[in-house]
Amino acid sequence: MPQLVVTTRDGDVHHVEASSGRSVMEIIRDAGIDELLALCGGCCSCATCHVHVEPAWFERLPAKNSDESDLLDSSADRNVTSRLSCQIPFDDALDGLVLRIAAED
Ligand code: FES
Repeated sequence: MPQLVVTTRDGDVHHVEASSGRSVMEIIRDAGIDELLALCGGCCSCATCHVHVEPAWFERLPAKNSDESDLLDSSADRNVTSRLSCQIPFDDALDGLVLRIAAED
């Protein structure tokens, strides 16, 4: 089964089973990692699903659109590998995707 490798804010590393057709946010949330609040449910309006993607993986993700980029600007923890995990559709090509949950704003 494909997996995500998710580091939480306290440094714990979780290997989370993932399946195609869902967003990375949904996969993390449904794995019980509750520090990813995802308050808007994935409609790109809250930024509480902010993650930092490991650089080698970041380049392999679909580009973010302007709405995602604008919303990330509201986060003090934005860096060059920031993404909103609700805007990343998971597929098998992302098996092993490594990311860290961003600081809470
Ligand atoms: S869940 Fe709200 S922007 Fe991603």
